[in-house]
Amino acid sequence: MRIGKLIATGVAVIASFTLCMNQLWAQAKTPKASTSMIDRGKYLVNLGGCNDCHSPKVMTPMGPMPDTNKLLSGHPANSNLPAYPDSILGTTPDKWLTITNAHLTAWRGPWGTSFARNLTPDKETGLGSWTLAMFIKAIRSGKDMGKGRDILPPMPWMALGQLTDQDLKSVYAYLQSLPPISNAVPDPVPPPGAPKK
Ligand code: HEC
Repeated sequence: MRIGKLIATGVAVIASFTLCMNQLWAQAKTPKASTSMIDRGKYLVNLGGCNDCHSPKVMTPMGPMPDTNKLLSGHPANSNLPAYPDSILGTTPDKWLTITNAHLTAWRGPWGTSFARNLTPDKETGLGSWTLAMFIKAIRSGKDMGKGRDILPPMPWMALGQLTDQDLKSVYAYLQSLPPISNAVPDPVPPPGAPKK
């Protein structure tokens, strides 16, 4: 009897130990972004000027500042672009190469009009459904979502793409840690006279 009980307890101890190890192993295989990684990402995002173009602005005596309630949510979908004479734009020194709105989120130039994307983890309108691999591929290749059309100016992917994998992982981890904001940024508008696709 005694020996039977002892064996049973032994088996139970081994079983719970194995279960515990399995859980630890599972955690090790799917690492959660650590706080230090998110902090590093925030530091890089601040340095990289992502807020300059990807955050809507509020006007202050110091000029436009990122709206802290809408950080990195991209070009505000509900804002209208003011009209401007096309004649001011061009690629020669007597013309303005580019023009931007008061949020610094919409950019018209020889490439047409581009709108800074929503970088918050909203599933439908932001980067919520993007994997880390897609993010790194997009930034390194300059192709939309890592496989589509060319990413347009002034998105500085050439510079950003020179970061190490570890730093790009940190930027991704920080972006995914933001509160998701639903904001459907419009697709780019081709320049006048561009061949229809
Ligand atoms: C000077 C303005 C500017 C800065 C600075 C900037 N971006 Fe962008 N970004 C844009 C614009 C505009 C687009 C949209 C381009 C397009 O539609 O092709 C964009 C697009 C993106 C995209 C989507 C790419 C894709 O696959 O279509 C990602 C991701 C991104 N930016 C991340 C960042 C991060 C992270 C930073 C900071 C390290 C940053 N951007 C800094 C203007 C900027």
